[in-house]
Amino acid sequence: MKTAIKRVALNLVGRQEGARPPDAAALLSALPVPVVVIDRENRFRFLNHAGEQFLGISAAQAARMPLTELVPADSPIFLLIDQVRRHDVSVADHDMTIDGPRLRKHGVTVQATPLPEEPGAVLLAFQDASAARSLDRQLTFRSAARSVTGMAAILAHEVKNPLSGIRGAAQLLEASVGEADQELAVLIRDEADRIRALVERMEVFGEKSFDRGAVNIHRVLEHVRRLAQSGFAANIRFHEAYDPSLPPVFGNRDQLVQVILNLVKNAAEALTDAGVQMPEITLITAFQHGMRLAMPGSPRRMELPLVVTVRDNGPGIPDDIRPNLFDPFVTTRAAGSGLGLALVAKIIADHGGLIEVDSRPGRTEFRLHLPIYPDDQP
Ligand SMILES: Nc1ncnc2c1ncn2[C@@H]1O[C@H](COP(=O)(O)OP(=O)(O)O)[C@@H](O)[C@H]1O
Ligand SMILES: [Mg+2]
Repeated sequence: MKTAIKRVALNLVGRQEGARPPDAAALLSALPVPVVVIDRENRFRFLNHAGEQFLGISAAQAARMPLTELVPADSPIFLLIDQVRRHDVSVADHDMTIDGPRLRKHGVTVQATPLPEEPGAVLLAFQDASAARSLDRQLTFRSAARSVTGMAAILAHEVKNPLSGIRGAAQLLEASVGEADQELAVLIRDEADRIRALVERMEVFGEKSFDRGAVNIHRVLEHVRRLAQSGFAANIRFHEAYDPSLPPVFGNRDQLVQVILNLVKNAAEALTDAGVQMPEITLITAFQHGMRLAMPGSPRRMELPLVVTVRDNGPGIPDDIRPNLFDPFVTTRAAGSGLGLALVAKIIADHGGLIEVDSRPGRTEFRLHLPIYPDDQP
């Protein structure tokens, strides 16, 4: 959405030499993205065609109408607009609910941008949940995490107890049966152990509370990098692009190690399996304003300004698994469990964070958006 607008702007600049470009209003009207411009008093200044449809009013109806006639004054959209005016930066708010007498939309992304030529005016571009395929994908991990949590609880409860019975019985048999059948008893015990190991791996998904504190994400990244380089990623080149001024993450160190380890491991496996000539993994940290997410069941909106990126130059994520990438048991590897990314999704969701994935041949990137350790914590 942002890039679409940028593209229009670039076209305008690029064409100045030749034919006269169409005027900005005509361009914005043609844009398939709902766009609204409001003036400093929050009255409609402009509404494109997609915006008319999205808001359910015509441009003529909207002319000079205050936005509060559509959206109540306590809507989070006004907080967003205030923030844009105060800091003079573009801010995107995800998963917003717009709820008014004539309008009800859930899961909307609103990108608000100041207009330099008119002080106080703000351009709002909307992205509907149904249209927001890419955001959808980012948010699927939430439901994936939920389904895993439920399944883990059932597995742990329903499987573990009978399993220890089976194992105990097999052990008794081992001691009493003749030589010929002993092999079978051992087989039962070993397979029972294998199932138990699987269940235990699933149990990490269960609802457990976890301690959170100030975590230095660079230490986490360096720890994982050392582990990787002395083991499974020995012949892969690592690059680091760290922002040293980054404040601490509000999180759980061990869980964040697990997340980074899973992502680095996947990257290493993709690189190795594809036999990439110069395999590289890049770890990046950055501070980025403007990423906010609604907290489930709370009107609070969480700022997620810390961005941690794990990038590789491997073959990319196969198309057919992309829609379910974060679901458990989704794997393309013969020996894979398909639990790595499900666990990543679960932990990041527990942290109130967000994951984005960009993947094409030669460049795959997992970006984690995480909260800062708040100053007012003891
Ligand atoms: N960096 C990556 N590059 C290419 N494919 C990836 C990458 N990370 C994950 N994948 C794909 O996602 C699948 C699921 O990953 P994961 O949940 O960790 O399970 P597993 O590693 O056990 O297969 C992998 O099998 C692989 O196909
Ligand atoms: Mg994995």
